[in-house]
Amino acid sequence: MSTLRLARGAQATRILGIGSTQPEQVVTNEDLSKVMDTTDQWIRERVGIIERRFAAKDESAEDMAVVAGSKALADAGLSPSDVDTVILANCTSLTPIPNYAAPVADRIGIKRAGAFDLNAACAGFCYGLGVASDLVRCGSSKRTLVIGSEKLTDVVDPVDRSTAIIFADAAGAAVVGPAEEPGIGPVVWGTAGDLVDMIYMRDGKYIFQEGQSVFRWATTQIAPIALRALEAAGLQPSDVDVLIPHQANLRIVEAIAKRLRKQGARDDMVVADDIVYSGNTSSASIPMAMDHMRAAGRIHSGDVTLLIGFGAGLSYAGQVVICP
Ligand code: UT7
Repeated sequence: MSTLRLARGAQATRILGIGSTQPEQVVTNEDLSKVMDTTDQWIRERVGIIERRFAAKDESAEDMAVVAGSKALADAGLSPSDVDTVILANCTSLTPIPNYAAPVADRIGIKRAGAFDLNAACAGFCYGLGVASDLVRCGSSKRTLVIGSEKLTDVVDPVDRSTAIIFADAAGAAVVGPAEEPGIGPVVWGTAGDLVDMIYMRDGKYIFQEGQSVFRWATTQIAPIALRALEAAGLQPSDVDVLIPHQANLRIVEAIAKRLRKQGARDDMVVADDIVYSGNTSSASIPMAMDHMRAAGRIHSGDVTLLIGFGAGLSYAGQVVICP
């Protein structure tokens, strides 16, 4: 009987570069209060958002993915031919055929790429990062570009105050490649499919969410999963320099940080609060927060960074990475 040869991959992987982009149009709480029954004070106090960005009519998730992906490649000091796989995390596409990943790879200049979309809603980037790391470790890919890109304004009722104040548009990306020392820990992921009705597309048109139920789930169930990701990487809470949870609601972010500090995370652990000026951008929120925080000098190359995504599904995924 013939024996199949197996591909040989890298010993370890790391994030080689990151990038992100946001649309130009800034939308303030004041702007929203003119079209729905809400106030700047309510949004700041209950969600923590001050402003967010909405894409123009002719600006798509695909366009934003091309920009964020190209920036991540430049940040890594790589050219498109250095990458052979593109994973595009997205949950807001109105046209599933064709997928976003193939044309995005082509527009970036990554020819003949293995390219696919991945939908794990707001956990999509961490799912993609886990898959990318394993592809490189198994030898299926030499380097993989992971992008989270969302035009949420396409799927949000613009006058629904329970969703329109939260969601916004953006893209974030990371290049994953081989490394001598581990820079991406094992992914810890899962779903609570029995809770699927908490967030879904009502009548196939607009996002509906049971806000309070999702809030309770996120504030009680996500910190333990983040702790499992730390354990999988062989680290303690006190090792974490930076915490980047999905930017769903600032109160959820703070609740997760508080739970981790109770378990030994340091007071000086830097906690992402990108939602304040970006809103909730689903699969784009984690890579964009990392990009913004590094650009602002709040986090640095080499920092031990705990990522944790969660959202519709209900889905969750997290891992420890070393900041590029
Ligand atoms: O990203 C994927 C996963 N999604 C999430 O993680 C979202 C999780 N959920 C949340 O972030 C929060 O539940 C929301 C931001 C959606 C809502 O905040 P909340 O603190 O849970 O508000 P609530 O739904 O409990 O409403 C409290 C009150 C209600 O009024 P009454 O019944 O107490 O008089 C609402 O009608 O606030 C009212 N309300 C608003 N008032 C002004 C709800 N939305 C608004 C609004 N402006 N936009």
